[in-house]
Amino acid sequence: MNVRITGTGSALPGKILTNAELEQLIDTTDEWITTRTGIKERRIAADGEYTSTFAAEAARRALAMAGIQPEELDLIILGTVTPDFPFPSTACIVQDLLGATNATAFDLSAACSGFIFGLSIAEKYIRTGAARKVLVIGAEILSRIVDWEDRNTCVLFGDGAGAVILEGSEGDHSLLSTHTFSNGEYWNLLYQQGSGSRNPATDSRTLDERRIYLAMAGNDVFKHAVRGMEEAAVKALDANGLTSSDISLMIPHQANRRIIDATAKRLGVDSDRVFVNLHHYGNTSSASIPIALDEANRQGTLKPANKILLVAFGGGFTYGSALIDW
Ligand code: COA
Repeated sequence: MNVRITGTGSALPGKILTNAELEQLIDTTDEWITTRTGIKERRIAADGEYTSTFAAEAARRALAMAGIQPEELDLIILGTVTPDFPFPSTACIVQDLLGATNATAFDLSAACSGFIFGLSIAEKYIRTGAARKVLVIGAEILSRIVDWEDRNTCVLFGDGAGAVILEGSEGDHSLLSTHTFSNGEYWNLLYQQGSGSRNPATDSRTLDERRIYLAMAGNDVFKHAVRGMEEAAVKALDANGLTSSDISLMIPHQANRRIIDATAKRLGVDSDRVFVNLHHYGNTSSASIPIALDEANRQGTLKPANKILLVAFGGGFTYGSALIDW
């Protein structure tokens, strides 16, 4: 059984926060942010908007494109590090919002690689016959876990969601492979310090000592990200007997323009074959690849039989790739 992407969707908050607006909030400049990251603006969720809000909307758009009803879904996998609640899973809330009454639903924690890890699990469910129609979502509201007083991190992240529908298929055009990797040795280079069992939200010190927020060793993460994305991409190419010249479009995790450029250069993929939209959205973690995939799809950039390479890297560390014969 092959696995085909039959629908894509994305949803973003309406509020745009520009670099110029950030200049008014913290000690930074548009010039610094643009040259170090490529980011010009990001979307920020409003009061009353949650991770499930955007996840469900992205899912509705993907379902509409696939032409299937929510009740037909067998499985919902949602990658996120910013769930609505620690439990129950945001996937269960999305199941309820959609009315996907026949689906099993769970969240997956693989930070910025969450969508690729989700694809990999969905692929295996479908190939083994355990599921026929699967919804995979990446959704985040990172603006609620970044420290808005820390200019090293708060300029980098944004909110949003992307989703795909995967279905079993006898046809040729399909998901060719997925590969996932983890390196737990570096878990503390990029993590949310508080609200879990080590620094519980119930302990007043967690807030008082600003331990609730996302923490990152930016320089170290940068180097590992380039190496990890290259390794994951090479694995995908080798597994399919392809070289980088066969790739029509690479859609990398949108963390930093310099990470993307360095990865593409190492792989030998020219910039005109690399999809970039982080200037609009910043780093939306697990949502970045499905948002980009949906944009590329709706723009008509993806043509039948194109080889599309998705590659991600994130906290954990986690990293991974997916190769699609569109
Ligand atoms: N505005 C202005 N100056 C800033 C700033 C900001 N928003 N953030 C940091 N700086 C300052 C620092 O304080 C430092 O000043 P100092 O030299 O006086 O101490 C200076 O800029 C240089 O900092 P440095 O950390 O060397 O910058 P950098 O070139 O490594 O870029 C990142 C920083 C965070 C952009 C970069 O390391 C990065 O992108 N890392 C990967 C992050 C990422 O993508 N993580 C997610 C992966 S999934």
